[in-house]
Amino acid sequence: MNFWSLLICLCLHLVGSVDRSRFKTCHQSSFCRRSRAQTESHYELESDSIHVSGHSLEALLINTDTSVKYKLELTGLVDNTFRIKINEAYPLKPRFEVPLVLQQVDTAPVEEVNRDDKSVHIALSQAKQNSVIINFKPLRLDFYVGENLVVTVNSRGLMRFEHLREKGTEEGSDSEPDLWQESFGGHTDNKANGPTAVAMDFTFAGMEHVYGIPQHADTFSLKDTTNSDPYRLYNLDVFEFELWNPMALYASIPFMMGHNRQSTVGVFVLNSAEGWIDIKKGETGIFGSLSNMVSGSQPQKQVETHWMFESGILDMFILLGPGPKEVSRQYGLLTGTTPLPPEFAIAYHQCRWNYNDQDDVNMVNSKFDEHDIPMDVMWLDIEHTDGKKYFTWDSRKFPDSVNMIENLSSKGRKLVTIVDPHIKKDNGYHVHTDLTAKGLYTKNPDGGDYEGWCWPGASYYPDFLNKEARDYFAEQYKLENYKGTTLDVFTWNDMNEPSVFNGPEVTMPKDKRHLGDLEHRELHNMYGFLYTIATHQGHLVRSENQLRPFVLTRSAFAGSQRYAAIWTGDNAADWGHLESTVPMCLSFSVAGMSFVGADVGGFFGNPDGELMVRWYQAAAFQPFFRSHAHLDSRRREPWLFSPGEMSLIRTAIRTRYSFLPFWYTQFYEAEKTGVPVMRPLWYEFPGDEGSFDREGIHMIGDALLVAPILKKSATELSVYFPGNELWYDVFTNQKYDVSGEISIQAPYDKMVVYQRGGTIVPRKHRIRRSSALMHDDPITLHIAVNREGKARGSLYIDDGRTFDYKTGGKSIYVEFKFEDEVLTAKMLQPAGTETKVWLEKVIILGNGPNNNPARVITKNEDVYVDTLYDTSANILTIRKPGVNLGEEFTISLK
Ligand code: NOJ
Repeated sequence: MNFWSLLICLCLHLVGSVDRSRFKTCHQSSFCRRSRAQTESHYELESDSIHVSGHSLEALLINTDTSVKYKLELTGLVDNTFRIKINEAYPLKPRFEVPLVLQQVDTAPVEEVNRDDKSVHIALSQAKQNSVIINFKPLRLDFYVGENLVVTVNSRGLMRFEHLREKGTEEGSDSEPDLWQESFGGHTDNKANGPTAVAMDFTFAGMEHVYGIPQHADTFSLKDTTNSDPYRLYNLDVFEFELWNPMALYASIPFMMGHNRQSTVGVFVLNSAEGWIDIKKGETGIFGSLSNMVSGSQPQKQVETHWMFESGILDMFILLGPGPKEVSRQYGLLTGTTPLPPEFAIAYHQCRWNYNDQDDVNMVNSKFDEHDIPMDVMWLDIEHTDGKKYFTWDSRKFPDSVNMIENLSSKGRKLVTIVDPHIKKDNGYHVHTDLTAKGLYTKNPDGGDYEGWCWPGASYYPDFLNKEARDYFAEQYKLENYKGTTLDVFTWNDMNEPSVFNGPEVTMPKDKRHLGDLEHRELHNMYGFLYTIATHQGHLVRSENQLRPFVLTRSAFAGSQRYAAIWTGDNAADWGHLESTVPMCLSFSVAGMSFVGADVGGFFGNPDGELMVRWYQAAAFQPFFRSHAHLDSRRREPWLFSPGEMSLIRTAIRTRYSFLPFWYTQFYEAEKTGVPVMRPLWYEFPGDEGSFDREGIHMIGDALLVAPILKKSATELSVYFPGNELWYDVFTNQKYDVSGEISIQAPYDKMVVYQRGGTIVPRKHRIRRSSALMHDDPITLHIAVNREGKARGSLYIDDGRTFDYKTGGKSIYVEFKFEDEVLTAKMLQPAGTETKVWLEKVIILGNGPNNNPARVITKNEDVYVDTLYDTSANILTIRKPGVNLGEEFTISLK
């Protein structure tokens, strides 16, 4: 590509709207076309090959058309999970199996419940209610929780496993088009292994809703795809992506959850090749309980899904819950949970493409103080580098980056710099010369280094499958290597799908080669994941494993949650995009990516004041809270809006800071449990059917119900109150004893957030410039009682930055219980450290009149403190209990 074509390519990337013709439809992707056309089963299990022992069942399958044999392995895993692995029994060469994603998961013993000449029934020995009946001819697996059939595998006979074959032989001949070569958009894909697709159908029995498989800009409850393309999983840099459709985006997580009032199940297919998933919603009569199956049953809802991948093997996990939180835990056991972020990372981030130079950064840094708006992190996009060479600085614009960083650090703030994976072709750039010399770039089929185009122009793409490449990158983060940085600098990994401006579908051609001559096709969806492993490792290396990393990634795969937070990519400054933030963040959340957010304000375009205010109000209650804007957009720091609007933005950000102790505790618990911090309502109210397809509303933890205003000019919105609970407006303290849909006034200055009755939320009310400066500040407990006058909550405290909470137990984890007019604080684990944090105030909502002084009892003290009862609002305030949060205490109002 010459200079002019690059320019055109870059311009295409900078202006215009989504060009669908650049991206394949299912029909244009030959394996999707072939797999989607399949209608009947071709696979049978050979019953005399069954071997059950210990933790697994093994058997051979046969394709009745081709006589090719396959090995099926069903393994019991701890925590109500089954793994089914199907691979060719005698492949021409080993097929790719995804590395590095799965955690060490213990297997669990299985036992044979029953067998006849048609089927075998296998149960988990230690949790016998979880079982599977494997039907032999045709192959079909029915998973049960107790008597309830929850998922069937291959019940529609859509399994497909294109075996490896020799080109030029009869079976390798191109009888069907596109088996060995296909073209799209002027690019030809030569498939070294010919057709290698794998596919399987999973039916969620008795269910109407399925969720997950991010990333798509679509509703949270996934749609029927009968009349559209399937949902696509292929990590792509889609310029100006469209809303509400199944097109692929930057991340692919092949994990889906189905939920109904009785059960929740998860299906995870560990495959990193291009994928497509069809969804069909309907009813059937064949599903029911085990006993009903015999006696005939009523028609039931079901969601049929059909998963198709271009290569790899079928490595499938069925997570049997039985509830949503258990499924999250089970998925967390398989792929890891989101580690507790450093404290600053859950506060507010200020980004744009670009903060021009160090004076600009210094100016923005001080303007936040001038306007009394807290801020924790400033971000530098690609223009801060010397000619898009990552790990370098443009020394004209940033002559003294360390001084600039210290200005931030002095206020407890941090800096994030961008480090993309494409490496500029420049013989004066040490990263390029090193990687070339070490042979660590992704290769062309002929063995030469693959060259593509990205921000720097001609670029190379490291082979992050190779540990040596990851180790090399990790080394670059050492302060002696990444000059001009300090330990207060963290990392943004962008363009890691990877984005290749002149590649097919703006990404790397599938026939490029990784370590072991492996085609890129096999692992495309995990390239970005592999890259973040290196960055995360770099952060560990540079602090000698002392400090918690913070990495933001655009591309992700299953397991990415262990290494990076994610944002939803290049959205736009319009109301539809604001609306899509909730379902997009929820889809990531249920698929394990708990630390998720969207660019506040919208990346492209210029938000007006109203959109900006509403966006801040929504994002203040989403896990990752960062404002970001395109190079061509107008500056939009909060003080550039009208004084009234700035003040509303300030309030939104300050509100986030007031809830930081709650957020931090939620993240701590998410690391332990795998349950995402941002949740759909049905995680908390699994039996509330009305919540299953509610869009635009969510919970934070088990305590906050958040209903952001997502429509232009709206001053009222309809809020769905799930379950049968009391709710308290967190701003006015007004109590709502309501269920179902209620209209709520939401003028411009209103954030609609409720605390659930029965919960205790720790907050801080002295807002300072950054979270670090608030670290030791006192806590106020907000107690919202339920109908029984009870509540519970927790608080987690540590140093906010190191791993001492893990390695040395240096943390405090307290449980609060309010019951019978008594608040007790009990350590959930022995307090491993001291803290300066003390209890400043207790606010009790909905508990009825009480004018007694409060008796505060600690190990060393027994004193009475004042209380104040506000009759009109029914709020009781205990003023200055003064206890330290590192000790257990009781406060009695009796
Ligand atoms: C694309 C990213 O999505 C965007 O956030 C960033 O500003 C640009 N690349 C430039 O680095």
